[in-house]
Amino acid sequence: MKIGILTSGGDCPGLNAVIRGAVLKGGRAYDSEFVGIRNGWRGLVQGEFMKLDRHSVRGLSRQGGTILGSSRTNPFEGENAGPENIQKTMDAEGIDAIIAIGGEGTLTAARRLTDAGIKIVGVPKTIDNDLAATDYSFGFNTAVEIATEAIDRLRTTADSHGRCMIVEVMGRHVGWIALHSGMAGGAHAILIPEQPQTIEQICAWVESVRDRGRAPVLVVSEGFLLAEMGEAHSHKGLDAFNRPRLGGISELIAPMVEERTGIEARATVLGHTQRGGAPSAYDRVLATRLGMAAVDAVVEGKWGSMVSLKGTDINTVSIADATMDLNRVTQARYDEAAVLFG
Ligand code: F6P
Repeated sequence: MKIGILTSGGDCPGLNAVIRGAVLKGGRAYDSEFVGIRNGWRGLVQGEFMKLDRHSVRGLSRQGGTILGSSRTNPFEGENAGPENIQKTMDAEGIDAIIAIGGEGTLTAARRLTDAGIKIVGVPKTIDNDLAATDYSFGFNTAVEIATEAIDRLRTTADSHGRCMIVEVMGRHVGWIALHSGMAGGAHAILIPEQPQTIEQICAWVESVRDRGRAPVLVVSEGFLLAEMGEAHSHKGLDAFNRPRLGGISELIAPMVEERTGIEARATVLGHTQRGGAPSAYDRVLATRLGMAAVDAVVEGKWGSMVSLKGTDINTVSIADATMDLNRVTQARYDEAAVLFG
């Protein structure tokens, strides 16, 4: 059997470890052959492939990014797109099935292609940890480690100057990175998309920290909304591709905090540093296991399924279930952390 692998959507530490896990297990256990599909769905639509064998994946589990390249191309849009053309491209290349590694958008496209008869197994990928039907996705742990280190570093400079530091982390729809890094770094408040807060509440937390003689450190998700401002401020217009611009909420809040509390405030946007570099050991193991399990699912013909982590086990779930809704921070998890705010 010849299996094509693609990585699609925003990159994520651990993508290469999935590729390596799949290629090594497939070759050893099933004598499968592999081919790399370049730049996500674009490579499948435009017929861009690369060699993928055990030599090409040597040492890959510790390497960040994706050797295959990635894009946000929609496989249903543009020239040569759509299931019929894709099937023709696969036949011409001798590809029997595809392992698609991606987040919600990628997996939604994978489900539609599977419905149209293309043989696909999905692997969940998101640093935001916003995919349902898996306890965690690889990349999340690495992002939390990077954000936690940044918070630790910002705390010492906050203490030196008696300033308020507002650290902005990724998470456009959900606040998992903020919640975990904020807890790990001992943040005095964690602001996430699921829990809009007023500027008064934020300032109350800041002042109570200051009144104890400490320098306040706040963590905020890029998709956080101020309760009084609604969705209007959540993006800064549209980018060249007509997508809402995200980021910058910390830069909006910092001067508001400074003006209302009189405490000097600084914003730091961590941005794509959270997606770059080597995956953590945890993510390498998770990604490798998911890659190996994806090959098992292909050999078992589980089309339209996604490999997923439940507890410590890797299972399969339907992509339809995984893409039905986002995995949001629950009220209980937020309340648990909020006991320590202020
Ligand atoms: O979905 C993952 C993510 O990292 C989000 O947290 C972030 O909003 C977005 O991707 C950034 O996308 P891009 O790399 O296209 O700027």
